[in-house]
Amino acid sequence: MKINYLYILLVVVFACKMEKKDHENIITIPEQHRPLFHFTPPSGWMNDPNGMVYHNGTYHLFYQHNPDDIVWGPMHWGHATSSDLIHWEHRPIALYPDEHGTIFSGSAVVDHHNTSGLGSTENPPIVAIFTYHNAEKAANGEIDHQTQGIAFSTDDGKSWAKYKGNPVLENPGIADFRDPKVFWHEKTSAWIMILAVQDHIRIYRSPNLIDWEYASSFGEKAGAHGGVWECPDLFELAVENDEGNSKWVLLLSINPGGPNGGSATQYFTGGFDGYQFTNDHPDDMIQWLDYGRDNYAGVSWSDIPREDGRRIFIGWMSNWLYANKVPTEQWRSAMTLARKMTLRKTAHGLRLISEPVVEFEKLRVNTLNLATREIAGGFNLSATYGLFLTHFEADLHFELQENDSDISIIFSNTMGESLSFGFNAADEFFYVDRSNAGKADFSDQFSGKAIAPYALNGKKLNIRCILDVSSIEMFGQNGECVMTEIFFPSEPFTILRIEIEGKPVELKEGQIFALKPAIVSQ
Ligand code: FRU
Repeated sequence: MKINYLYILLVVVFACKMEKKDHENIITIPEQHRPLFHFTPPSGWMNDPNGMVYHNGTYHLFYQHNPDDIVWGPMHWGHATSSDLIHWEHRPIALYPDEHGTIFSGSAVVDHHNTSGLGSTENPPIVAIFTYHNAEKAANGEIDHQTQGIAFSTDDGKSWAKYKGNPVLENPGIADFRDPKVFWHEKTSAWIMILAVQDHIRIYRSPNLIDWEYASSFGEKAGAHGGVWECPDLFELAVENDEGNSKWVLLLSINPGGPNGGSATQYFTGGFDGYQFTNDHPDDMIQWLDYGRDNYAGVSWSDIPREDGRRIFIGWMSNWLYANKVPTEQWRSAMTLARKMTLRKTAHGLRLISEPVVEFEKLRVNTLNLATREIAGGFNLSATYGLFLTHFEADLHFELQENDSDISIIFSNTMGESLSFGFNAADEFFYVDRSNAGKADFSDQFSGKAIAPYALNGKKLNIRCILDVSSIEMFGQNGECVMTEIFFPSEPFTILRIEIEGKPVELKEGQIFALKPAIVSQ
């Protein structure tokens, strides 16, 4: 199939003009750097995804939001809904600060049996469980300034009321006491809350989402501890191609202390009996969900129907090192694509795999099939195929001769700025290098190259990448090694080429997909 050139031309023309124009039925890029199919707030500041829950055919996404500024501030829960995890509609702000504090991160569940009594069995409530952050107390040095509260909706998430007896979990005298993730544990018939507490997680149990009892703690000595633990998640996941075998996966965001600096998310695999998490691995083993610098505070959707059975994740595509300073004007930060998580037995052991949800493929408008060829030195895809795209997906399958080649995929503009990413077989790592990718003077911690150690097992290499104006999500080896990064070119990147250092490499097969924007509506 041929790429639809007219479509691409339109995208490039509009990308280059960067005008705030509304054309009917034509693609516009309203603001420089605003992605075209990643979720961004309509205006103002956004950080963590919150309260993701599926209810009556709708995916809800709430998020940490400061509607009045483009820097972090008094937190609200912004709200958006979608029927496919790709096209989002903005909804009114769901949770506002109140006398207990501002609204920090948390989760939401459908209380199917109305255990909370906040709805009815005919119309079960959606219950949001979040952290209250009392900024005044914090400023006065009162250590117990974070507590947990709940709110509920009985109209499909349209309007929300706070529970009158808030907070439902008082602070035991620990400053970092936040980000409750709640789920129903079938086997022991209880609600479970996983809470990030400084350098570990605490597990609480409840019959009704209101009365909580401490069960156990995990992690003080396990995993990475370069910074505070935040935004945990715990869920059971089947092991791919291993009938009946499953593990519990614990996600934990940590800031700072990520593998490439600043914020990142680690994971543990093990067991959970309703009371306690047991790690399958030695304490000093560290596993990262994503090695890029821009995937933080991500957790998974609640209440995905059993027939669907997926565990779906979304993360915040930024890093506390520079999040407040990135060069956008009306809004700050985007989310990653919604990703399906699975557990796969790999040559390196059991790994948590992330790949875009299949719904994403609906955005593909055209496919360019690349002919098999040997690449020695360079191969300019844009010149060869007349491809000039600000946003696209590429799925490339290489075969190496010797494990000594460095395969760089370079996305650039005519100003000489470029983002390069790929795989270095000699030194065994995937990488994303934004050292020369445009604006970087807003923070001295933004520029540079991020790497993800990865030993290739054999000679076959797969790189799937999704680029959207100012972000890259790279899924190496079918989602085994993931890197997510943002970048801010002075003029849009539209030129794509591959460069090989070392022995020539065979491009066995490859596809480039032109993507249509998923315009968010109000
Ligand atoms: C993570 C985090 C959470 C907290 C929220 C505040 O990015 O620091 O721990 O609840 O952001 O906005």
